[in-house]
Amino acid sequence: TAGRATGARGLRFTPVAPNTDDKVTVPDGYAQSVVIRWGEPILRGAPAFDADKQTAKAQAGQFGYNNDFLSLLPLRGEHGRQVLVANHEYTDEVLMFKGYDPENPTREQVEIAWAAHGLSVVVVQEQHRDGRLTPVTRHPLNRRLTATSEFRLTGPAAGSALLRTSADPTGRTVLGTLNNCAGGTTPWGTTLHGEENFNQYFANGSSATDKRYGIGTGATERKWERFDKRFDAKQEPNESHRFGWVVELDPYDPDSTPRKRTALGRFKHEAAQPRLTADGRPVVYMGDDERFDYFYKFVSSKRMMKGSSRKAREHNLTLLDEGTLYVAKLTGDSPQDIDGTGKLPNDGEFDGSGHWIPLATGDVSHVPGMTAEEVYVFTRLAGDKVGATKMDRPEDVEPSPRTGRVYVALTNNSNRGKPGQPGADEANPRNLNKHGQILELAEHWDDPASDGFAWRLFLVAGDPDDPATYFAGYPKEKVSPISCPDNVAFDPYGNLWISTDGNQLGSHDGLFGVATHGERRGELKQFLTVPTGAETCGPIIQQRRVLVAVQHPGEVDGASAEKPASQWPDGPGRLVRPSVVAVYRKDGRDIGV
Ligand code: FEO
Ligand code: CA
Ligand code: CA
Ligand code: CA
Repeated sequence: TAGRATGARGLRFTPVAPNTDDKVTVPDGYAQSVVIRWGEPILRGAPAFDADKQTAKAQAGQFGYNNDFLSLLPLRGEHGRQVLVANHEYTDEVLMFKGYDPENPTREQVEIAWAAHGLSVVVVQEQHRDGRLTPVTRHPLNRRLTATSEFRLTGPAAGSALLRTSADPTGRTVLGTLNNCAGGTTPWGTTLHGEENFNQYFANGSSATDKRYGIGTGATERKWERFDKRFDAKQEPNESHRFGWVVELDPYDPDSTPRKRTALGRFKHEAAQPRLTADGRPVVYMGDDERFDYFYKFVSSKRMMKGSSRKAREHNLTLLDEGTLYVAKLTGDSPQDIDGTGKLPNDGEFDGSGHWIPLATGDVSHVPGMTAEEVYVFTRLAGDKVGATKMDRPEDVEPSPRTGRVYVALTNNSNRGKPGQPGADEANPRNLNKHGQILELAEHWDDPASDGFAWRLFLVAGDPDDPATYFAGYPKEKVSPISCPDNVAFDPYGNLWISTDGNQLGSHDGLFGVATHGERRGELKQFLTVPTGAETCGPIIQQRRVLVAVQHPGEVDGASAEKPASQWPDGPGRLVRPSVVAVYRKDGRDIGV
């Protein structure tokens, strides 16, 4: 098979050592360049970035802040060009604005922050001489979507009374998308974007559901509620229900209104990664990134139409509106051996079986005591009721294009096993879990729509010298230390790439590669590290190029625009700027071979 010919060969670069250098460090023989920075103009009429004269109008035409998920899509008919789509998860006002007063943000600062959130679509141009990519400013596909752009709610909960507000009595039109963390790319050429920690934007929460979703009872840190009453839950209790969805964007249609897909449920969506069943129906895997929250999938009832005809494109934009939403329940096969230390069970693996518990299909609820609309809008409560497995913060998820196995990053859980909190189980085997783990899931008969699966832990992260770590059984003296896996991606050869957020081993965060099958399964190697205070996001591994989103560089306690903790990417005296970076081999050959 193709898998045997080109897969399973592992990775052959010299690993980058853990470090705390204020730069992007890449392996010997590799080079890097910034693709695009926060504030670079992408739309017609947008000015060049000027830190001292930033305006909301300028920002709305410029690349947003804190790039997270990235997708690169082909652009037919334009040689050497691709379409880059980026999430802008959140803003760090204290690093963005000199003289920022957190107690008294100005209207202009707040409106700049609204414009710096959301999504960017920007066409990028390959360079002949190396792996560089440069933005094509003013390309007609370039687009910014912000915290005030129009989005449409679709699917079974659209129009529900739970989604209506005084500004939108239809419950179908929302202004903005917020806290877009990771996402996914669909086989029909659209992108998916998870709205994650939306709770932080809403003040004065009071209901039990507000509490379950983490909406605070007082003012918010950014104080947006002073400038738009929709961010005040006391005045607009349903506005927060209109966030926490998966957004679907058609980057090829700059006039399209992006959709929030209610059939995929509402929670702190980290990511949404689709694959197809044998008969062409999409299945989307999704994590809810919170300590003790759940792992989900959505199975569409409709088949994808192939091709790029208008009819096919219109049909495919309905795929994520009809189907069944499920939540995962995992059962270990060695419960007697799990003591919370991370010691391997006597059968040699953290493993077991699982099943998918249906929550709702269209207008039909499968959860006693909840209507279908309630299941979609308050999905966490549905998961609570059916006894789903409480996980260690499910982050990004990625099915292997080679084996069909699904990899789920469980980033950490500092509360596991604390008094009054759930203790370790076989899928989440360490109490006070600082470093996280990666779960490997195999659907029965490799059918993504199956109601059952087998699972085992692929990695139990940490310092390989720590006995409570596991690297798929590979010799631990040959692997790189890793902590807090967050994003996962596959390269064209079937190697898994893992980026981290919050390294607890004294090094900066980074990107790692590892084979998931063959003799080198578990041979984890660190490929790069990021600057001070940054998280490594959005990895895309192409044959000859790696793209990473360096998110929140310089985000260190006490740092500010006047007293930066990082000088990346432009050196002393300049604002630190979240940016996308391309990494490639100096000799032009393939990555990792
Ligand atoms: Fe935004 Fe769960 O990371
Ligand atoms: Ca076991
Ligand atoms: Ca993330
Ligand atoms: Ca994270």
